[in-house]
Amino acid sequence: MKNSVADRLIQNHDLTKPEFMELLDLSEDSGIREMLTREAVRLRKLYYGDKVYTRGLIEFTNYCKNNCYYCGIRRGNKDAVRYRLTKEEILDCCAQGYLLGFRTFVLQGGEDAYYTDEIMADLIREIKSRYPDCALTLSIGEKSYESYRLFREAGADRYLLRHETANSEHYARLHPAQMSLSARIQCLYDLKSLGYQVGAGFMVGSPGQTKECLADDLVFLKEFEPQMVGIGPFIPHHGTRYAKEKAGSVELTLFLLSVIRILLPQVLLPATTALGTLDPRGREKGLSAGANVVMPNLSPVTHRKQYDLYDNKICTGEEAAECRGCLERRVKSAGYRLVNERGDVSCKKEVDNGF
Ligand code: 5AD
Ligand code: FES
Repeated sequence: MKNSVADRLIQNHDLTKPEFMELLDLSEDSGIREMLTREAVRLRKLYYGDKVYTRGLIEFTNYCKNNCYYCGIRRGNKDAVRYRLTKEEILDCCAQGYLLGFRTFVLQGGEDAYYTDEIMADLIREIKSRYPDCALTLSIGEKSYESYRLFREAGADRYLLRHETANSEHYARLHPAQMSLSARIQCLYDLKSLGYQVGAGFMVGSPGQTKECLADDLVFLKEFEPQMVGIGPFIPHHGTRYAKEKAGSVELTLFLLSVIRILLPQVLLPATTALGTLDPRGREKGLSAGANVVMPNLSPVTHRKQYDLYDNKICTGEEAAECRGCLERRVKSAGYRLVNERGDVSCKKEVDNGF
C-alpha cells in the first residue's frame, strides 16, 4: 500500500501535510522514487519538450544588510571581501550575455542600500530599453510594496525570493530576530499582486530542517503557486555558525525536484549551482528529475569567488562563454537541449494556440 500516497500525488497534484510527511518517509524507497521521477519527466516533457531554459545570472553586489545565519555574505562575516558592480559593468555583462544567446538576465545581490530604488529603476529601464526582447528578473530581497511597484513599472518581469522555509520556528532558527517568515511571505504575495512572475524556494537539509518543515514547504508551494521554484542543498560555509553542519542530501533534493514538478506541472525549476557543487553531475541529475532551467553566471570572473554563499561553489573561474559551452554539453548529455528563449511559464497554452 506504500504506493498509494505517491499515486495520490500523481492523480491530484496535491497532498495534505500528513500525506506529504508520509511521502517523505518513503523518499529512499527505490520503487517510489522511480515512479515519481518517471511522472515528473513525463510532465516536464509534456509542457516543455526537451527544452532547457537558461538565465544569465549577474551577481552585482555582495554587500548585505541581513545576517542570515547560513549565508557566507551575511553582514556579520567580516572576512567577506565586498564588491559592487557599476552600471557600466552590469550593462557589459548583459551585452556579453546577449551575444551568447541569453534572453533572460537575473540581477541578484545582497540587500544593499547603495542601490537605491532610483538607481535600480534606472538600471532596469536601461536594460529593458537595450534588450526589449529579454526578460529581466530581480533577486534583491525584501523591499516595500512601493519599491516592488517602481521596479515593475520600470520593466522588471520576474522576481526570485526564496521563502527559505515555510515553518516559522525553523525560519527563526536560520535568521536573526529582525527577520520573519510572515514578512517574507507578505513580500511574495505583494510581488504576485504586482504581476511579477515569482520564484519561491528553499534549501534542502538546512540546519534544523525536519520532515515536517519540508511538508510545510510543499503545502506552501501548492498554495502560493509560484511560477518558479528554486531549491538546492544546503552547503556549509566556513565563516558561519553552521560551518560544521552536514550538507544537504543530493538524493533528497532530486526527490523533491520530482515532487515539485508533479505538484506544479508547469513550474520553471532550475537545476541549481548548489546541486552541481555537491555532485559533479548534480545539475544533469536535476534535469533528469524534472528540472528545466539552468542559471549560469555572467558576473565578471574577478568577482565570482567573492559571491561566496557557501564553500566550494563551482563555476567561479570560468568566463561566461566557457560556462555556457560547458552547460550546453551537460544539458545535451542529459538528453535535453539548451534554448535561447525568454522561457516564460505556461508553454502548454502556446502549444494549444498553435504558436
Ligand atoms: N547553502 C546553500 N544555499 C544557500 N543560500 C544561501 N546560503 C546558502 C548555503 N550555505 C541560498 C539561499 C538564498 C540563495 C540566493 O542562496 O536559499 O536564497
Ligand atoms: Fe559553469 Fe560548467 S557550467 S563551468
